[in-house]
Amino acid sequence: MIGRTFATGSSGPRGPSRSPESIPRALEDARGGPAGSRSPVDAVIVLIGGTGDLAARRIVPALFTLWREGRLAPGSRVVGMGRRSMDDGSYRRLLAEGCSALPGFDPAAWEAFSSRIEYLRGDASDPRPYALLSARRFADASTNGLFYLACVPDRFGDAARRIAEAGLAGRDSGATGFRRLAVEKPFGTDLASARSLNRLLHERYDESDIFRVDHYLGKDAVQNLLYFRFANALFEPVWNRKYIERVEISVTETGGIGQRGGYYDDAGATRDMLQSHLMQLFCLTAMERPADFSQEAVREEKVRILRAVPHAAEGGDSLACLRGQYVRNHEAGLPGYREEPYVRPDSGTETFVALRLSVDNWRWNGVPFILKTGKSLAARSTAISVIFRAGSMDLNGQDPDANRLVLRIQPEEGASIGFNVKAPGSDGPARDELSGMFRRSGGQVPGPYERLLADALAGDSTLFIRFDETEEAWRLLEPVLSAWKRDPLADLAFYTAGGDGPDISRLLARENPAAATGRDARGA
Ligand code: BG6
Repeated sequence: MIGRTFATGSSGPRGPSRSPESIPRALEDARGGPAGSRSPVDAVIVLIGGTGDLAARRIVPALFTLWREGRLAPGSRVVGMGRRSMDDGSYRRLLAEGCSALPGFDPAAWEAFSSRIEYLRGDASDPRPYALLSARRFADASTNGLFYLACVPDRFGDAARRIAEAGLAGRDSGATGFRRLAVEKPFGTDLASARSLNRLLHERYDESDIFRVDHYLGKDAVQNLLYFRFANALFEPVWNRKYIERVEISVTETGGIGQRGGYYDDAGATRDMLQSHLMQLFCLTAMERPADFSQEAVREEKVRILRAVPHAAEGGDSLACLRGQYVRNHEAGLPGYREEPYVRPDSGTETFVALRLSVDNWRWNGVPFILKTGKSLAARSTAISVIFRAGSMDLNGQDPDANRLVLRIQPEEGASIGFNVKAPGSDGPARDELSGMFRRSGGQVPGPYERLLADALAGDSTLFIRFDETEEAWRLLEPVLSAWKRDPLADLAFYTAGGDGPDISRLLARENPAAATGRDARGA
């Protein structure tokens, strides 16, 4: 690899208002200024599921960071609701663990922030804690509130209903301050449950007050996809079926499921990762350029691209899927999935899934998209690889290698392009690569939860999922989910923990692979 780099950092002088360089500004304008520049207002943030991992490790540390940086108004409060019996002091100690792991942790700042945190004991579906909350913190109609559903997903509906019944939020609350609902993923477990949750929410809340969270959208490098695609004249013209052979979107993780077996064994990789994070990466990679970068225009394009994926029953080979589960790696001492705590010993849950889908529109017709994710694999990496069609020069009877553009989301953020050159000093071909890191200019980049919480508090839903978006993502997974429901062990390929995962080459083949059914199931 030659050490050439892309220009990174500040964007340089701006052109006229509709030039490609104005897109970042359009995104900022649509949101009332660059992220972080808005004036925050006091709010009470209520965490339903306040003692859970998500609250302790992600949400509260993000709130603390926002508060320290002046992006959460100083008069704000956090109320954690949970079933455990504890007082404010022990709740703050529980949260201190997650926060003290933050870089540059300042104990004095934590003391000051944590004095604004309180604990409320109660079950998410019990009306009593909500009545208490209403009397204690929301007696004033002008109090702003963000109700964050971070509890187990099957309580989302109950909690949202109780919040509205207590008059804390929702269309009939009579509040003059904002009262918003943030809902974690997974949003439903299939199309029917997502629809019924949406119906329940819409009975009581306006869509503009519902913030469906997918933390991948809060990642800076994911937002960068829009800039990369629409702010570069170099890529925009070739981003279509004429030049692109296929697209691979991959999220691999090294960790197993740890202590999360209770949740994960019902969810699996499809519901935990594919329906949400990978579908979002797919949308941003494949969607059309929105008319403008306002929240509605961006979300509208994402829904549109999902709608353009034909249902398996309509499209024949348009959608194919394979799945896997990790088994013990004796040499490396890594446990198998079925040995993990809270996992059924005969579980057929997939810890790896790969999906091939096609898009029925002028841009992508005939271009397969391969989405792949798995746990307990050899490397942690999130990347989008765009594989171009081969060039036309005959290289000793062979086509040149296809150009491959790789957009890396994590652990490092950057891009590389592989291309063909003449090997120096010979007439033969060689491969070369142009690569660059998206270096961070001007200070810390906010973490995904910081970004999303700040946006939800500011009422900006651009990086949140609209109701029809989540339904469309479930819709296209329906045939896969129902085939697996019929035969829970079908098509389950076992792979060694810490390895490369199952062979997905049959999804790459041009001919029709076995669509979502068990034709080649292997045993453990
Ligand atoms: C969560 C999933 O939404 O995302 C986890 O529930 C997964 O299973 C995690 O490990 C991955 O997030 P990140 O930001 O570490 O890539």
